Amino acid sequence: MIKKTQPIVDKVDGVDAVDWGSRLSANQGSTFVAGPQTLSDMDDPSSTEAILRDLIRSRRSIKPRLFNGRRIEDGVVRGLIEDACWAPTHGLTQPWRFHVFSDAALERLADFRQEWYRDHTPPEAFDPNKFDRLRENLIQTSHAVLLCVHVDPEGPIPEIEEIEAVACAAQNLMLSAHAQGIQCFWGSGAETYTAEHHAFLGLGPSERCLGTLYLGYSDRRAPKSKRLPVEQRLVWHS
Ligand SMILES: Cc1cc2nc3c(=O)[nH]c(=O)nc-3n(C[C@H](O)[C@H](O)[C@H](O)COP(=O)(O)O)c2cc1C
Repeated sequence: MIKKTQPIVDKVDGVDAVDWGSRLSANQGSTFVAGPQTLSDMDDPSSTEAILRDLIRSRRSIKPRLFNGRRIEDGVVRGLIEDACWAPTHGLTQPWRFHVFSDAALERLADFRQEWYRDHTPPEAFDPNKFDRLRENLIQTSHAVLLCVHVDPEGPIPEIEEIEAVACAAQNLMLSAHAQGIQCFWGSGAETYTAEHHAFLGLGPSERCLGTLYLGYSDRRAPKSKRLPVEQRLVWHS
C-alpha cells in the first residue's frame, strides 16, 4: 500500500508545483532503498503478480561489451519485437519502427559509428578507447534494434505521445527479453539524433531514431541497482 506524502509545493502560474529539487537534496544520501525485491520476499511467489513484479524490478542494463557474443535466434528477436508492438498507442497509430542489425550489418553499423565519432571529435578530445568501444559493443551484440518513431505531421497525435508509445514498446521488449534470459541495453550515443545517422538508417522525413537496444547474452551477474523511495516521486491527490 502506497502512503500519502507531503510534498513541498509552490504556486507556478497559480498551479501547485512540486519542488522536487529541494525534496531530493534534503533527503539525498540516506534514503536510497535496496534493489529489487525478489520472489522470495513476496507472500505468494508463484502468483502472476509476483512474477511480473519480479521481472520488472530485476531487469538490469548490462553494457553490451560485457555480452558473451552468443547469438540469439532471429525468430526469438522477431517475437520480442511482436511483444513490443502490443504497447499502448494513442489512436492505434503504432508509431514504432524497428531497424534490426545482425551479422554483417552490425559491422556496417560499427564502421558508421567509428567514422562518425572520428569526424565529429576534435583531435585533442579524441579518445582511442571510446573509438574501440564503439565497435566492441557491437561485436559482442547479437542483434541491435534501432528504435525509431514515425510522426505523421498531418495527424492528430502530438509527437510527444508517439515518442511515449515507442518508449512503452521498448519497455515491453526489454521485459520480454529479460523473461527469456536475454540482456537488453538501451544506448543513445552522440550520433543517435544526427542527420548522418538518419541518412545511414534510410529514415524518412517523418521518422526519428530514439536509440539502440543492444540484445545479447551475458555470463555476468546483473549489477545491483537502486531507486529512490517512491515518496520522493509521488504526489497523491485525493
Ligand atoms: C532513453 C534512454 C537512453 C539511455 N541511454 C543510455 C546511454 O546512452 N548510455 C548508458 O550508459 N545508458 C543509457 N541508458 C540506460 C540507463 O543508463 C539505465 O537504464 C540506468 O542506468 C538504470 O539502470 P537499469 O536499467 O539497470 O535499471 C538509457 C536509458 C534510457 C531509458
